[in-house]
Amino acid sequence: MPVPAAAASMRGTEAAGPRHAARRLGRVLDGRRRRAALLLLALAYAAAMLMLATGGGEGLGAGVVVEAARPRRAPPAPPGSVYRSHLVFERVLPEMRAFASRPNPLMTSHHKKIGKQWKPCIRKRLTESELPSSNGFLVVEANGGLNQQRISICDAIAVARILNATLVTPVFHLNSVWRDSSKFGDIFDEDHFIESLRKHVRIVKELPEDVFLRFGHNISTIPNMRTKAFSPPSYYLQQVLPKMLELGAVRIAPFSNRLAHSVPSDVQKLRCLANYEALRFSESIRILAENMVGRMIKRSSLTGGKYVSVHLRFEEDMVAFSCCTYDGDLKENNAMENARERSWRGKFHRPGRVINPEANRRNGRCPLTPLEVGMMLRGMGFDNTTSLYVASGKIYNAEKYMTPLRQLFPLLQTKQTLATSEELALFKGHSSRLAALDYTICLHSEVFVMTQGSNFPHFLMGHRRYMYGGHANTIKPDKSKLVQLFDNPNIRWNQFKHQMQDMRRHSETKGFGLRKPQESIYNLPMPDCMCQQAET
Ligand SMILES: *[C@@H]1O[C@H](CO)[C@@H](O)[C@H](O)[C@H]1NC(C)=O
Ligand SMILES: *[C@@H]1O[C@H](CO)[C@@H](O)[C@H](O)[C@H]1NC(C)=O
Ligand SMILES: *[C@@H]1O[C@H](CO)[C@@H](O)[C@H](O)[C@H]1NC(C)=O
Repeated sequence: MPVPAAAASMRGTEAAGPRHAARRLGRVLDGRRRRAALLLLALAYAAAMLMLATGGGEGLGAGVVVEAARPRRAPPAPPGSVYRSHLVFERVLPEMRAFASRPNPLMTSHHKKIGKQWKPCIRKRLTESELPSSNGFLVVEANGGLNQQRISICDAIAVARILNATLVTPVFHLNSVWRDSSKFGDIFDEDHFIESLRKHVRIVKELPEDVFLRFGHNISTIPNMRTKAFSPPSYYLQQVLPKMLELGAVRIAPFSNRLAHSVPSDVQKLRCLANYEALRFSESIRILAENMVGRMIKRSSLTGGKYVSVHLRFEEDMVAFSCCTYDGDLKENNAMENARERSWRGKFHRPGRVINPEANRRNGRCPLTPLEVGMMLRGMGFDNTTSLYVASGKIYNAEKYMTPLRQLFPLLQTKQTLATSEELALFKGHSSRLAALDYTICLHSEVFVMTQGSNFPHFLMGHRRYMYGGHANTIKPDKSKLVQLFDNPNIRWNQFKHQMQDMRRHSETKGFGLRKPQESIYNLPMPDCMCQQAET
């Protein structure tokens, strides 16, 4: 999985509010600081003059001037502004090693039964009836990476149902960041998809010849209905349906996140059916992924076959996109600047765009380094017998940054250690196929650790809830808290450990949840996709 959140944060919409606010606050503070410094200087000057005039002790007088001159230099950044985690790591390492770990949390399974169990039950709930006649063809273009495409696909099923339309299996838009040319059938099992939904929505692999001919055999000539994000069903019925009836086909591109979270319950259930039952990876992906899960379990014999998976977002593109500083040297600055220009040409140089790495870090927006992830997990009680699967693309400066994580977790695995290069040959250069392997291995782990919000953990958490009785068993770090701890030069291991255990408990209580109307069904499949079972 190379590359950042193709998620909302990448389009900058979600993040804009707080970031703007932080910037504004920064400016106000800067202004205040400057005024305060000027005031201090003036006072000091007056005091010094007074001292000279009265012939007072020069020690005190000089001291005041020196003190007052200090704010002219940059004030020290507040805790959590600068990356210094490697210093804390070196400091606590001996203590970390000396402390006997309590039983590994993997062995004290926390699949607690909370009253009644939740189980998948979509098929039971969906009523099957004759398919109504079709109002026309719906053509959508799925943009983004693997899981953003998943949103488009499942929502396209929902919209086809709302409109009584025939869906053409979605085309994947070639993304400038993900750069994967795979087609629907390369990633997903297309026949299974069509067959699983057969009783609810008509799906065809291609537009029929006569319709295609009408549009000059060119998909791009089908009128594109530009649709606002999260449009309600009424928009589709009032705006899209008349056009579809008139032309026989309509196109919506881009299509991701174009349908509201809140839709009628029968449509919601179709989203469940599409996401959890109809969408399965293509055979070549499934076979390798299942083999890799098997190997992972075998290599986790010290913990009864259970393993932890981490979605580690520390690829070059991710670090560049975050605008965070780590080493802060020239080499890093150049690498980041180049990566930003490569994937988001000009975006970071637009007028008014202020990049503030220190504020980003304090606000918990910086990708965790492998070292930070390792310390966090050790603090949470996962000891060196834990086998760890690291899901990621090419880690930025891997040799340097992965070493401490391997030191803390010698039983670390990746795609490259679980599969041979021959096995991976079909996948090379295809970020979505590689992401599909990561997705499967993370899905089957005992505990999943996310490090950055994006569509990958969003879908994975939902899928894990669906598979594991409603509980996501996902660790979601509180990064604005972590940066404070990682920037405390006096912290002791015991103290750090306590904080981490609190964080783990907090994640655990959040693992279980019922969807509210404005939340995503792909993250919270209860109660729409699941039913409560009698206590066993
Ligand atoms: C779709 O078909 C159902 C069942 O025949 C019908 O009740 C509904 O009004 C139709 N909707 C549209 C938009 O054609
Ligand atoms: C398809 O149509 C689009 C838009 O009308 C046009 O720009 C493009 O050149 C066409 N492509 C081909 C292969 O004719
Ligand atoms: C884990 O650490 C202990 C104590 O430092 C050491 O004896 C043991 O060999 C380590 N286990 C692994 C799998 O590295």
